Amino acid sequence: MNSGNEYGVRPARRILVTGASGGIGAAVARAFAALGDRVAVHYSSRVDRAERLVTELGDGHLAVGADLSDPAAVPGLVQTTVDGLGGIDVLVNNAALVTTSHPPVTTDYETWARVWQEVLAVNLIGAANLTHQVAGRMVEQGTGGRIVNVGSRGAFRGEPENAAYGASKAGLHSLGQSLAVALAPHGIAVASVAPGFVDTDRVSERLSGERGDAIRAQSPYGRVATPEEVASAVVYLASPQAQWASGAILDLNGASYLRS
Ligand SMILES: NC(=O)c1ccc[n+]([C@@H]2O[C@H](COP(=O)([O-])OP(=O)(O)OC[C@H]3O[C@@H](n4cnc5c(N)ncnc54)[C@H](OP(=O)(O)O)[C@@H]3O)[C@@H](O)[C@H]2O)c1
Repeated sequence: MNSGNEYGVRPARRILVTGASGGIGAAVARAFAALGDRVAVHYSSRVDRAERLVTELGDGHLAVGADLSDPAAVPGLVQTTVDGLGGIDVLVNNAALVTTSHPPVTTDYETWARVWQEVLAVNLIGAANLTHQVAGRMVEQGTGGRIVNVGSRGAFRGEPENAAYGASKAGLHSLGQSLAVALAPHGIAVASVAPGFVDTDRVSERLSGERGDAIRAQSPYGRVATPEEVASAVVYLASPQAQWASGAILDLNGASYLRS
C-alpha cells in the first residue's frame, strides 16, 4: 500500500464503498473523499441518492450500481470501478439487507426459508463474491490493499427477531478473519467493524419514542453512534498504519455490549 513519499504527500487511493447510497456507506464515502481519495459510490436501487452524493463529493468520483445478490453482477461492478478509478486500493463491504423481522416461533416456514436466502445472498455471499473479485485485482496490481467489512454487534449479542441478519454478520466477521490470513502475503489487510445501533434512516423508526429511549440506554453514554463515528473507524482500518489490525473485529458500540 502506498503510504506516501518523503514529503508526506500520497496519491489519492481508489476506494469502492458498497451500499453508499445512504447511511453509513455515504458517511464512509464522504470521509475518504475529504482525505483526497477517489470513491466509487455503490448503490443497488437508490441511483438518485448515489448520483447526488457523487455530485456533492466533486470531481474524480463515480456511482456504480449492482445487485450484490446476483453473482453474475459482481465482476461487472469491479470492472466498472477499476475502469472509472484506474484501479482499486480499498474495498468497504458495507451493503446489507435487513428484511422484516422473522422470529422463529411465529414465522411460517416459507417466509423463514426465503428470508435466510435473501439476507445471506447479499450480506455474506455478495460480500464474499465481491471480495474475491477485488482481491484478485489487488493481487494483479501488486500494490497491496485494504478490505474493511461493516459487520454488527448483533453477531455477538444475538438478533432474536432477525436471526438471518445476525448470522450473516457473524459470517462476514469470519470471512474477514480467514481472508486476513489468506491475503496477508499480498500486502492486503482485512478487518471488520461491529457497530451497535447507528443513527441512520434504516433504524430511525426504531430509535423514535420509548423504544428508542431503551435502545439509547443500552450504552452508558445514553446514545447511539453517528454514521461519522463508524466512518472514522473504517478510514483508520483502511490506512497504511492499520496493517497490524488485520484480522481484527473492532467493536463500535459505546460499551453497550462487552464481549470477552
Ligand atoms: N444502522 C445501524 O444501526 C447499523 C448497526 C450495525 C451495523 N449496521 C450495518 O451498517 C451497514 C449500513 O447500514 P445503514 O444503516 O447505513 O443502512 P442503509 O442506509 O439501508 O444502507 C444499506 C445499503 O445496502 C444496499 N443494499 C441493499 N440491498 C442490496 C443489494 N441487494 N445489493 C447491493 N446493495 C444493497 C443499499 O442500497 P440501495 O439503497 O441503493 O438499494 C444501501 O445503500 C450495513 O451493513 C448494516 O448491516 C448498521
